[in-house]
Amino acid sequence: MSKTVTPAELINEYNAWTVQAPMVRYSKQPFRELCASYNTHITYTPMMLSKEFARSEFARAADFSTSNSERAIFNLSRRKPNGEYEKTTEPIKGCLIAQFAANEAVTFSQSAELIAAHVDAIDLNTGCPTQWAYEEGIGSALLRKPEVVADIVKTTYDRVGSKLPITVKIRIDKEERRTEQLIKNAVMAGASIIGIHGRYRTQSSTTPVNLDGIALARSFSSVPTISNGDAWSLEQSLDIKDKTGCNGVMSARGLLANPAMFAGYEETPIECIDRFIDLSMSYGLQFPLFHRHIYYMLESKLSKTQRQSWHNVISTATALDWIEEYKESVLY
Ligand SMILES: Cc1cc2nc3c(=O)[nH]c(=O)nc-3n(C[C@H](O)[C@H](O)[C@H](O)COP(=O)(O)O)c2cc1C
Repeated sequence: MSKTVTPAELINEYNAWTVQAPMVRYSKQPFRELCASYNTHITYTPMMLSKEFARSEFARAADFSTSNSERAIFNLSRRKPNGEYEKTTEPIKGCLIAQFAANEAVTFSQSAELIAAHVDAIDLNTGCPTQWAYEEGIGSALLRKPEVVADIVKTTYDRVGSKLPITVKIRIDKEERRTEQLIKNAVMAGASIIGIHGRYRTQSSTTPVNLDGIALARSFSSVPTISNGDAWSLEQSLDIKDKTGCNGVMSARGLLANPAMFAGYEETPIECIDRFIDLSMSYGLQFPLFHRHIYYMLESKLSKTQRQSWHNVISTATALDWIEEYKESVLY
């Protein structure tokens, strides 16, 4: 029998720290289960729109699915009061967090209630920088509205806080006092984890992550924190954890390229691709998404000709043949 704990307990009281980032389109059930099976302790759904989720059964079915097997079970050691870990381990279930974008408390808290039985926490997105999101007042539009964030978190905490923790994912702000105010408001309102993406709203993902900025943001938080940005390998992630002092390290593009990264693999192993195929087939991942995931996993290893030939693959049957041929070419 494994034990179930909250995401904050997982990264604060046990030696669990690896996190798969929320990714629109990509962090769906098969990918989450894949990452979890390779030592990822916490996984996030893609950002969903609370306005739609709360309103429509159709949106709920289209946006979210899960299963009993999606969380992996990890043998973890509990942290002792002196900061060291017990020598013994116990089986603890990983956590799944549902992320939503919202600009008001009503639909966010309704969504929390609707999804509470299926996830371990609900996360408020305050980082999405796209223009349409900004204009809707969601995502990064909330970065400088700490009072709205506090209202969303507090209302949800009052409504479902006893059964579902609330977490908040932010970006750092050029003006440090704004980051401080945002984090303090979120924590005071009841947030149990702060995820910190170390880039400003206006910075693209090609800008190197600001680890000092994350460390500073962490110092404003009295609850566990997760560092996010430029974690491309296990080694790099451990270094990020060290430098930022956060409890956890979250990866987006690193895991897309190599879902086995947190298990110590330097590149996507063939068995990971096989596992992804099985999960995608059994959960019914739509073909364009399946195609894209395989591309990301193999991208660094493919020649220009191989990339072109993969782009010409337009059905599951030909994709499976293509992958078999690719495997033969690397294995023999
Ligand atoms: C394809 C893709 C989709 C993303 N979708 C989301 C999302 O739904 N919610 C969110 O908070 N961030 C989203 N992000 C941002 C990531 O969660 C993460 O903050 C960012 O990519 C930095 O991490 P990285 O340097 O490890 O890629 C997305 C990023 C990518 C690459």
